[in-house]
Amino acid sequence: MPGFRVVVSDAEARAVLRDAYTFSSSDNNTTGRSSAKTPALSQLDPPEHTRLRRLVAAQFTPRELARLEPALAAHARAHAETVGDLVRDFTEPLPALALAEFLELPSDLVLRWVTQFASLVGYETSPGWPEFCDTVDGLALSRFPGLATPERRMLVHFLVVAGVRNVTHLLGNLLHRLLVSDMWPIAPELVDGVVEESLRHEPPALWSMRTATRPCTVGGVSVAAGERILIVAAGANRDPDRWPAPGDFRPDRPSATGHLSFGTGPHACLGAAFARLQARIYLGVLAESAPDLRPAEGFTYQPAGDLMSRGPAALPIRRQPCP
Ligand code: HEM
Repeated sequence: MPGFRVVVSDAEARAVLRDAYTFSSSDNNTTGRSSAKTPALSQLDPPEHTRLRRLVAAQFTPRELARLEPALAAHARAHAETVGDLVRDFTEPLPALALAEFLELPSDLVLRWVTQFASLVGYETSPGWPEFCDTVDGLALSRFPGLATPERRMLVHFLVVAGVRNVTHLLGNLLHRLLVSDMWPIAPELVDGVVEESLRHEPPALWSMRTATRPCTVGGVSVAAGERILIVAAGANRDPDRWPAPGDFRPDRPSATGHLSFGTGPHACLGAAFARLQARIYLGVLAESAPDLRPAEGFTYQPAGDLMSRGPAALPIRRQPCP
């Protein structure tokens, strides 16, 4: 990307992501300069970021997430029965339904917002923003009682944009890999391994951005204050110094969770456990309900998403009885 320093090694990516004082997030998620009145959570620096993140993180504990499991499994069972295209019928609707459960909101509202909002850039001027604000202001939203009105709006919008499509792309990348590699149906004891290896091998969120706040060096290269840095998880996850044979899909890698697909440091993904929980439940249900899935005849991979998040646009399937 023009005007950016690019970091693709595991060690350098970690060093940048962990140091929020030398590497600001203020212009994260945009190739220009962020002019948001209320910056997205991922664009805040300490101490503002630390304060807000603490308030929000309390909602993503394993205990809070475990309460959602029966509803997520029920959604998955309902969708697995009639699946014709895995993206259209399974990987797109389920994460939106999961977010609706998490926020305790009507599912049609969240499904509509997911279609309507796709970008963090200039989000306060996006079409439909005034109506979105009116709706959010009128909601009880018991999960975020300590937030001021602009923060509540920002956060719900952020979760709609960052907490759904990435899960869709994780599921799409993973199901695509399993189907074309003849690894379907996946045995329950292998699910965690394939989820982590898919995250490493084909990360849904490809990169993050930071801006140097002072002169510094990254991997021995001098960086001036104000220079922008692109940290490419998709590159760091295939760093041969960190991952032997990085291009191979190996679900039994040791320390498989050590990839950078959820970032690291103060901005590390708050929804990582939620994404993993969803993947585990949805994959388990689908393998049990539809063990006979195969890619449709003539299927070719087409990417969906933008430069930030990537997964398959469609995954049409056929049924083939297991031997
Ligand atoms: C496979 C799915 C997901 C991927 C790959 C992913 C990836 C990421 C990455 C890389 C970051 C760090 C960005 C940075 O450092 O600039 C991040 C932050 C974040 N993610 Fe996720 N995410 C996923 C799912 C979710 C879900 C399900 C939620 C919540 C419903 C969520 C909520 C957040 C939040 C709130 C942050 C901001 C944290 C902060 O700035 O302090 N994510 N995500």
